[in-house]
Amino acid sequence: QSVKVRVPGTIANCGPGFDAVGMAGTIYNYLELTLTEQPGVYIEVKGEGSGTIPDNEHNIAYQAVQAVFRKVGAEPCGVILRMENSIPLARGLGSSAAAIVAGLTAANALTGSNLSSEELLEMATQIEGHPDNVAPALFGGATISVAELGKVRCLRIDPAAIFTMVVAVPEFGLSTKAARQVLPKTVPHRDAVFNVGRAAMLVGALCTGNLAYLRYVLDDRLHQPYRQRLIPGMQRVFAAAVAQGALGAVISGAGPCLVAFTQHAPAAVGEAMVHAFAENGVKAHYLLLDLDR
Ligand code: HSE
Repeated sequence: QSVKVRVPGTIANCGPGFDAVGMAGTIYNYLELTLTEQPGVYIEVKGEGSGTIPDNEHNIAYQAVQAVFRKVGAEPCGVILRMENSIPLARGLGSSAAAIVAGLTAANALTGSNLSSEELLEMATQIEGHPDNVAPALFGGATISVAELGKVRCLRIDPAAIFTMVVAVPEFGLSTKAARQVLPKTVPHRDAVFNVGRAAMLVGALCTGNLAYLRYVLDDRLHQPYRQRLIPGMQRVFAAAVAQGALGAVISGAGPCLVAFTQHAPAAVGEAMVHAFAENGVKAHYLLLDLDR
């Protein structure tokens, strides 16, 4: 019994939508799950994370598989996981969310698809801690999710305009844990107000296809100002992207990747971002992603 699933990398927050807005990009991890009668765990990782991702019970995709088994009361059995990864690790492109969603969906498929996508989303959010990467990883497109007391509500939207996400990927990694530790426990009311309007208008701009509004709404006061010191040259990379005609740029998830949204000259935007990183002593390369629809 074997199944292979494909899960996209994701860009969470998208500027003002901290822990709520996310987008799936056209970069994918594949996971093949095989159940065997012989007990035991065998995990093979190719591509990103090969040699670093645990190949034992600590593997997060394996833990997601086990979470499904427990939930549906499946008989214990042996598990073979074969992972082929393209999503860069610990860069803010949702590699852990992709592993979790891959493990959950593959195990659900092999145990009779008893869990609904809402249940899978809630399980994934519980493992990951926040919903904004796991939701687009599960549903594709752009998503808005809210979580409270274990319940997660998610709305998937299909933006009414085409754009490219230009992702500048620095050489260094950053754990989400470290990037959340720099966030304050409270924020000024005016900063919350600043974000509410922008997050709402971001979603409105995507839904209506009025992408020109992205120029005014990608700024943020809930996480980016605090994370800036973890990403050398962040503001200069943003400015370089905009100077090449991008609509705006933000931290991808918890970083350190920075992503610009553009409808023109994506390669020029990517080169400018990489150049600006280099001026701050950071080696980087860029990826051009479309929205996974
Ligand atoms: N919303 C999360 C954060 C995404 O910014 O910490 C991280 O994966």
